[in-house]
Amino acid sequence: MNSKYAPLFESFTFPSGVQVKNRIVMAPMTNFSSNPDGTVTDAEVKYYARRSGGVGMVVTACTYVTANGKGFQGEFGGDRDELIPSLQQHASGIKEQGAKAVLQIFHGGRQCPPELVPNKEVVSASAVPAEGGGKPVPRELTDQEIEAIIQDFGQTTRRAIEAGYDGVEIHGANGYLIQQFFSPHSNRREDRWGGSIEKRLTFPLAIVDEVKKVVAEHAEGPFIIGYRFSPEEPETPGITMAETFVLIDALLEKRLDYLHVSLQDFWSQPRRGVDDNRPRIEIIQERVGQKVPIIGVGSLYTADDVLKASQTGVPFIALGRELIIDPDWVQKVKEGRESEIATKIDKDKQEELMVPDPLWQAIIHSPGWFPGVE
Ligand SMILES: Cc1cc2nc3c(=O)[nH]c(=O)nc-3n(C[C@H](O)[C@H](O)[C@H](O)COP(=O)(O)O)c2cc1C
Repeated sequence: MNSKYAPLFESFTFPSGVQVKNRIVMAPMTNFSSNPDGTVTDAEVKYYARRSGGVGMVVTACTYVTANGKGFQGEFGGDRDELIPSLQQHASGIKEQGAKAVLQIFHGGRQCPPELVPNKEVVSASAVPAEGGGKPVPRELTDQEIEAIIQDFGQTTRRAIEAGYDGVEIHGANGYLIQQFFSPHSNRREDRWGGSIEKRLTFPLAIVDEVKKVVAEHAEGPFIIGYRFSPEEPETPGITMAETFVLIDALLEKRLDYLHVSLQDFWSQPRRGVDDNRPRIEIIQERVGQKVPIIGVGSLYTADDVLKASQTGVPFIALGRELIIDPDWVQKVKEGRESEIATKIDKDKQEELMVPDPLWQAIIHSPGWFPGVE
């Protein structure tokens, strides 16, 4: 290995005690490839195994914690005990290759396609549709339903423990239900779940508390709890950097294993809410310091891209698309073969890359989404 990359290969022990062998994480990526009953497919298990030999930790595609949270065609389920064997198959496919397996737990809220949820009834914090036109008007959840969804996040965590995952990541990012409660765009409630920023935090923090409680009760050894958030929203009203600091400060109190900053571009700058034009990730890293490890992500492809990102002081770097393009990324850097890393999808290599059909079709028919697909 070229010695300049050595910092990427330092092991790390999370606050819970789980140890990972290096600083590269596979970013959570939905693959549209599970069975209609919510079980994982063999193709999907092989796709993960193919990418779990080098990275320290894999964060899985999101899994829905309850039926009306299913956000994608072919999403796998974590909402029923009968799915535990499927989850087990998924977790061991990753762990057998040497990576830690972290299940991303999720509810899609107003972003769920109506045809995927019971009675085509899409739900959210308030009856405000997502922007973009033609989006369904969600039904506002009742107090009792909100309490039930918090329990559902806990129950899916219990299933993750029983299935052998090393941890869970609470999906509070990318505009899904947890973020919908925090956002002033989607949360217009005036009860205990909304109104002030503190009240908009009630739902996300209640989920964190429930997940922590379940882990304390059920996990027999160290178990990772991470939280993913998006630092800003484009909408007005919408989450600003200033509001994100309030979220971060509240999450710091919870003593989690990591915070995962969901960005499409690692180096992107704040839109509003802070008088600082450094990259968002640097501002966040400075605020958090050593209090909790951060995972950064977004449009990083080469070994030098990742090295430069890690030199900001962010302890973990996640790769999404790049690990689909080149599943041997970590091994190549480790063996001094970083010049052999592919950074564009090769449309002739589906089989070699072990990418299941539904994901492959989505990739090759979405110009501009992946490098190499115009
Ligand atoms: C195919 C695909 C599926 C994704 N699914 C998820 C998901 O299930 N959960 C999530 O938090 N982010 C998801 N993302 C976002 C990625 O985790 C990541 O933040 C984003 O792709 C930027 O990183 P990259 O440039 O390394 O791909 C997905 C991205 C892609 C490309």
